[in-house]
Amino acid sequence: MLNLQLAKAFLKHRLYAKTRHGVHSPFVYRFLDIVIYDFKPRKEFKAIEKLREELLQDERIVAITDLGAGSQINNKKHKPVKELAKNALKSARLAQLISRIAADIKPANMIELGTCLGITTAYLSKAVPNAQIITIEGCPQTAQIAKENLERLQANNLELLIGNFDDRLPEILQKIDTLDFLFVDGNHRKDATLRYFYQCLPKITENSIIIFDDIYWSKEMQQVWEEIKNHPEVTITMDLFWIGLVFFKKNQAKEHFKIKF
Ligand SMILES: C[S@@+](CC[C@H](N)C(=O)[O-])C[C@H]1O[C@@H](n2cnc3c(N)ncnc32)[C@H](O)[C@@H]1O
Repeated sequence: MLNLQLAKAFLKHRLYAKTRHGVHSPFVYRFLDIVIYDFKPRKEFKAIEKLREELLQDERIVAITDLGAGSQINNKKHKPVKELAKNALKSARLAQLISRIAADIKPANMIELGTCLGITTAYLSKAVPNAQIITIEGCPQTAQIAKENLERLQANNLELLIGNFDDRLPEILQKIDTLDFLFVDGNHRKDATLRYFYQCLPKITENSIIIFDDIYWSKEMQQVWEEIKNHPEVTITMDLFWIGLVFFKKNQAKEHFKIKF
């Protein structure tokens, strides 16, 4: 049923979504042209995708601590790593897009909510090697495997914190003046996702970006997306169906784009 709803939402999105040719805003046109649709292979992606291939064969069993909204696929208490690698990670196409976005924005700092096995974390680390990255994971056994993966990839510009976003995010925010890049990729509950957004807002500048994963995952997540779009500090949003990008640029008219990806 849920998958049927998602399929319907996807078809509707395809009907209205634009490519760079249907877009008049110079800021958005440039972003689509040189970030979103730049599919050139990059050498730093290779090692990460090789590791993903290995994780897809990895039979080790992880005891799952689920602090989020659970999975729509299966909520077993123990899962093989290969199942997490198959179902919980961003695809290479999306992870590489998120990496290109980070490389374009060049944030000084980034927070990722939801490390899982560390694949998108590694992409962020390689995209901006001199950024300070904090990634948070609530499942200790999953985090341990992420730690090994990130060490192996020599992703050194980051700190992996184990704990609940609800506790860890406010602690981190207290210690930073501004937040340049936030990737929200876990706990797809309406109240929690909006709380993370409102907690981060005071640290957001006009050059910051927030990326929300799974904006069509549920009715609640669609409501979250609508509330965020309507927030007065948000100017441009780009809805790529799988993820939503939120910009705060002051010199841009408020406008919401549905983009084919
Ligand atoms: C979709 S996965 C992240 C995938 C990862 N960003 C990637 O694509 O490589 C979401 C992760 O968030 C974690 N998570 C969910 N809710 C959480 C919470 N409230 N606190 C801490 N971790 C949480 C889950 O344990 C899970 O590993």
